[in-house]
Amino acid sequence: MNKDIDDIVSSESRAKGFNTIATHSGEFKDARFGNVTTPIFQTSTFVFPNYDENAYLDHTRNEPYIYSRWGNPTLEALEKKYSSLEGTEFGLSFSSGMAAIVAALTTLAGKGGRILSIKELYGQTSSLMSGLFSKWGIEVDFMPTAHLNQAEGIGKNYDLVYTESVSNPTLQVSDIRHISDIASEKGIPVVVDATFASPYNQKPLDLGASVSVHSGTKYIAGHSDVIIGVLATGEELFNRIQATRKALGGTPDPLQAFLASRGLKTLGLRMEKHNRNGMEVARFLDQHNKVKKVFYPGLESFETHNVAKKVLKGYGGMISFEVPGGTDAARKFMKNLTIAAPAPSLGGVESLVTLPVDTSHSTIPKEIRKEMGIGDGLIRFSLGIEDHEDIIEDIQSALGQL
Ligand SMILES: Cc1ncc(COP(=O)(O)O)c(C=O)c1O
Repeated sequence: MNKDIDDIVSSESRAKGFNTIATHSGEFKDARFGNVTTPIFQTSTFVFPNYDENAYLDHTRNEPYIYSRWGNPTLEALEKKYSSLEGTEFGLSFSSGMAAIVAALTTLAGKGGRILSIKELYGQTSSLMSGLFSKWGIEVDFMPTAHLNQAEGIGKNYDLVYTESVSNPTLQVSDIRHISDIASEKGIPVVVDATFASPYNQKPLDLGASVSVHSGTKYIAGHSDVIIGVLATGEELFNRIQATRKALGGTPDPLQAFLASRGLKTLGLRMEKHNRNGMEVARFLDQHNKVKKVFYPGLESFETHNVAKKVLKGYGGMISFEVPGGTDAARKFMKNLTIAAPAPSLGGVESLVTLPVDTSHSTIPKEIRKEMGIGDGLIRFSLGIEDHEDIIEDIQSALGQL
């Protein structure tokens, strides 16, 4: 294991910057081979018992590796790199963002448990909470982000508070610091899905959250070619959540972990460009006469801009906006684009565009979508790292044809 950089990274007196940590931390180097990057340990199992006193220890249990559903060196390299960026030693990877979310939430809340959550959730998380969770006897109370930001309703009887640091797709920003301050007074852990922010724009644990969870499929892996999830937390929860991962079986395979780890190395560079593109496109759309409303935390006129200023380092590459004419006009706009592909994911180097009513939120009833602020003509744009002048020209032309 590359002890040197991890020792340096964890030593406060020689703290390194985000890009140095992203490049070097966690890499599994073996002087016997002189490998510069972490190999893909494509093995399902390991010799058992391993009597070699120099055997590497699986960080999830501090015992030699046994079986790749429990732990694997390529996964460990990703988990250490990612957790260093979140400012903790304790990270875990999963076969998807949803696997990470389910493992975290079901570790903290079981039958008879209660969760307080924002209402403006990613569609699948919303369906999980109102569907499977109610079947499993876990009750969820939903409230608008604006109310949770006032720390309304955080009572002693909740097992956890759940939020998305920037909500999908309405970009409402949660005041993680304030919510965590109030929740921690009552001993309630706060779990934050920070997918839209990425660890570059926000480190939820530094703001007082107990768990930071990501769909690593998005900015972390960054190239629209892998499905993966990650979470970072403290030691006690780490031990409990890794036991849940082992039982539920949502561990990623080594190739997924390798690709996510490679993606993480350039996260800082990519986020700088995503942040720039977000701001440029938001300003352009904000003054366009065929746009009804722009949802972007970096715009001063946006409802949660003041919160965003406090909890985000950059405003990100996700933007939503509404065109007059509802779903038909929005679909036509998408067809008119030549750079962004119409596809439901986000956070990759290539721009993607989608209608939440057709994709991420299609299973949510219309009235609830309305309460979440998702109109029929809402377009969600994931800005890639293309030149913003080209993206803007393309959007200008597509709007002009409406
Ligand atoms: C905010 C957010 N959280 C979680 C997920 C789920 O992640 P995955 O698709 O990797 O399971 C998504 C997927 O789009 C998402 O946008």
